[in-house]
Amino acid sequence: SILIVDFGSQVTQLIARRVREAGVFCEIVPFQSAEEGFRRLKPKAVILSGGPASTSDIGSPRAPQLIFDSEVPVLGICYGQMAMCVQTGGKAESSDHREFGRAFVKVLKSSPLFEGIWEPGTQHQVWMSHGDRVIDLPKGFEVLAVSDGAPFAAYANEDRKYYGVMFHPEVVHTPDGGKLLANFVHRIAGLESDWSMAGYREQAIREIREKVGDGRVICALSGGVDSSVAALLIHEAIGDRLNCILVDHGLMRKNEAAEVVAMFHDHYNLNLKLVDASDRFILALEGEADPEVKRKTIGRLFIDVFEEEAKAIGGADFLAQGTLYPDVIESVSFTGGPSVTIKSHHNVGGLPERMNMQLVEPLRELFKDEVRLLGRELGLPESFIGRHPFPGPGLAIRCPGGVTREKLDILREADAIYLDEIRKAGLYDAIWQAFAVLLPVQTVGVMGDGRTYEYVCALRAVTSVDGMTADFYHYDMDFLGRAATRIINEVRGINRVVYDVTSKPPGTIEWE
Ligand code: XMP
Repeated sequence: SILIVDFGSQVTQLIARRVREAGVFCEIVPFQSAEEGFRRLKPKAVILSGGPASTSDIGSPRAPQLIFDSEVPVLGICYGQMAMCVQTGGKAESSDHREFGRAFVKVLKSSPLFEGIWEPGTQHQVWMSHGDRVIDLPKGFEVLAVSDGAPFAAYANEDRKYYGVMFHPEVVHTPDGGKLLANFVHRIAGLESDWSMAGYREQAIREIREKVGDGRVICALSGGVDSSVAALLIHEAIGDRLNCILVDHGLMRKNEAAEVVAMFHDHYNLNLKLVDASDRFILALEGEADPEVKRKTIGRLFIDVFEEEAKAIGGADFLAQGTLYPDVIESVSFTGGPSVTIKSHHNVGGLPERMNMQLVEPLRELFKDEVRLLGRELGLPESFIGRHPFPGPGLAIRCPGGVTREKLDILREADAIYLDEIRKAGLYDAIWQAFAVLLPVQTVGVMGDGRTYEYVCALRAVTSVDGMTADFYHYDMDFLGRAATRIINEVRGINRVVYDVTSKPPGTIEWE
């Protein structure tokens, strides 16, 4: 296995991801507990991540000396490379010449790190992000590559198998970075590709069993890919000691709740209870127009209903959540003592404290596409795996202006037709997320011989990688015409359809 020591870089998880892609198991530990992690894991190699500190700052973080005493290969990236340099006898300094973003390195020497990708004398694009620079290499090290801003862009002590790179091989903007990391893992550390999603599944199941013991777990299942995969994994681990609750808040898509329940009952024999709480939610939301009040009302009611249902089935010791890595805001604290602050994005925030439960989050190290791979591994149908994201507050935040039962019904129909057209046109998988919004505006139209005065429906579709930024989807106009005609003809209450061409930023994906 490989130990990744985290110095607080924003992209440390990407290193783990590349190592997994190379088929090798790895674990990330914050630098403060790296010594303990090293003893426990007994890794065959160590990767030191980047980070925001400067090695010339007093008290800036270091890798445990144990790592350098143990003779395992080490790859230092960005800050990690600076730390390795100063800890093995070299010198670094803060520099006015900062290099950020795209840069080119020129290869001077061949090395196992570059094997099969970079020849001496060639130039390659990399992604830099650093302010410090090495001024003196430690004894026994030699330069492998240079860049305009960094005379030591890559260097190595081939005897000790220590490698330092100023740039970030883990990001996609270093096109050969994945192969470079694979070289470190396979050729330098000598590890075989023996890790896969099947392996992850077994490991996760073992860890769940260890954590839960003979306790009971409850899970709020939404039918989204994350909660579905988390539930299936836990079900494999502990069987009937998992109880799933699907709260139908009346803000779901057409037929959604029934489809989710049917799938889990038919395919998995999962302990799943559907709770119809739609009246309660809609009563509380009736006429509410303030987006934040809507969100808070829904969140609070969700917790109330979930708590009642959990009590009704005898409570539980653990709450399962499909938290993914991007939801986990992990900050390594440099000044606040030895402990690491990890904030979880609680999908059902507040519940664990209120009900005195611990969290089980088997997906918290994974990215969305890895969760999809795991879902396939668990036999989840493609229709669930490729599902567009759907927000917790559901259709309520797609009904700007006051929410009413009537408006939700109109929106649900329009949304179903829109998605049906998207599927028929074969566009579902090319779009990251698509939905209809019912505007609180009525406009005049003419249908047959009569005047109409009805709502406007806005259609939204975006492409995105992670939901953080997004571009509107560039439909063919014929498609939009087809969808608009069907919505106006088939949905009572809508006589006009518009398309949202706002990207994020400056817009958000949802309208509220
Ligand atoms: P925005 O609108 O912020 O949305 O650009 C980004 C992504 O997050 C989803 N979203 C939510 N998901 N609970 C969720 O589980 C929420 O309260 C929530 N609000 C927005 C949104 O659908 C998009 O995919």
